[in-house]
Amino acid sequence: MGKQGTKVADLNVKELLNDLNKVYADEWLAHYSYWFMAHSVTGPGYEDMGEFFEKLAKDEAEHAGEIADRMIELGGMPVVNMMELEKNANAPYPKPPKGTSDYKKMIQVVLDAEAGAIDAYNKLAAKTMGKDHVTYQLVCHILAEEVVHEEMFEDLLD
Ligand SMILES: [Fe+2]
Ligand SMILES: [Fe+2]
Repeated sequence: MGKQGTKVADLNVKELLNDLNKVYADEWLAHYSYWFMAHSVTGPGYEDMGEFFEKLAKDEAEHAGEIADRMIELGGMPVVNMMELEKNANAPYPKPPKGTSDYKKMIQVVLDAEAGAIDAYNKLAAKTMGKDHVTYQLVCHILAEEVVHEEMFEDLLD
């Protein structure tokens, strides 16, 4: 990437790349978990649940792509070996429950993962604010979407 584009980032770029790699891994793990639940969900209302999971899965894959693009712009590289995603993530794989119609547990899996994502992006926003405007803008955009995800699934608990 352009030298100047990296130089204007007034922070430790190596450390930032490490943080970005972690959320990148989180995004893929969430994507797979949600995608899996979108396709395997059964029970009454499975079509609606499937659509919710599908929407989130799509968003998380998009986030992974946006983070990857930013990492590469900064001269970094996202996790190459997918087997190493979990090792590099902030949190363990958000494992879907055994019961494919256990909506309550599935919703909890999503809420825990989203809470983790909100935390991670919130920290990244604080770290980059006023220092790396491009990353700051990106993490705020993703943070806002994670907040919507949490709310969508919180509402399902009522
Ligand atoms: Fe995400
Ligand atoms: Fe999310």
